[in-house]
Amino acid sequence: MTESTRIALVTGASRGLGLVIARVLARRGYSLVIGGRERGALDSAAVELSADAPAVRPIPGDITDAQVRVAMIDAARQLGGLNVLVNNAAQLGPVGPLQTFDVPSFGRLFPVNVGAPLVLTQLALPLLVERQGLIVNITSDAADAAYPGWGPYGATKAALELLTRTLAAELREQGVSAVLVDPGDMRTRMHQESLPGQDISDRPLPEITVPFWNWLFDQDPNAVRGERFGAQHEDARWLQRV
Ligand SMILES: NC(=O)c1ccc[n+]([C@@H]2O[C@H](COP(=O)([O-])OP(=O)(O)OC[C@H]3O[C@@H](n4cnc5c(N)ncnc54)[C@H](OP(=O)(O)O)[C@@H]3O)[C@@H](O)[C@H]2O)c1
Repeated sequence: MTESTRIALVTGASRGLGLVIARVLARRGYSLVIGGRERGALDSAAVELSADAPAVRPIPGDITDAQVRVAMIDAARQLGGLNVLVNNAAQLGPVGPLQTFDVPSFGRLFPVNVGAPLVLTQLALPLLVERQGLIVNITSDAADAAYPGWGPYGATKAALELLTRTLAAELREQGVSAVLVDPGDMRTRMHQESLPGQDISDRPLPEITVPFWNWLFDQDPNAVRGERFGAQHEDARWLQRV
């Protein structure tokens, strides 16, 4: 590993979209800090990613746990810094109509989907400033489409979108950029759990987003500041910018 080795932190990288993003970064030569709660799955991901990444540091635990977030940033610092922070970990449920929504459940959704990404960003900022880095926050079309049953989840993603655009503006002076990425419908555990018993085999696997990630990580972070991208081929507006 050299001083110029780039480093990325990806939350929720033990499976699904986060693991796909981590694979792209590993193949591009990034060292990685990865997170997720299930230790076994996270360790398996770390072993796999180590085939390409110069170094991989799995930090198991819940993203709402302050000690876990500090351990992630410490791990990045020990690797040498941070170029890319991907806030990917999220939860979708509880799912159901707003008229009967158990409002105290917001107590879990907002800390996971909004609070944790913001605190992690705050902690990561000194490292991101040093390397003029990029924050990538994963959103969803549920942020503005009124999907019945997904209102609480959509509200968290709408909040994350506003925070991300605000951060992009506030961090301009410090040379740190932030973008939003909507990965589109994908066949993952989260998606299946939100549609219990339904056949979701028509949804693509998260690997469909690989060309987008390769494109994004080729960009000057300043040139994409504050933008919102759809990552699937059928929404390839980003391709028109090449
Ligand atoms: N799938 C879709 O159709 C779709 C569409 C639009 C947007 N998205 C967004 O894409 C992102 C990834 O979702 P996915 O579909 O890839 O889901 P997934 O396959 O269920 O993966 C979620 C990842 O996040 C981790 N995670 C979840 N809650 C966590 C917590 N509290 N603390 C730490 N890690 C946690 C999971 O590991 P553990 O469970 O072991 O913690 C896992 O690694 C999310 O932000 C989601 O909102 C997905």
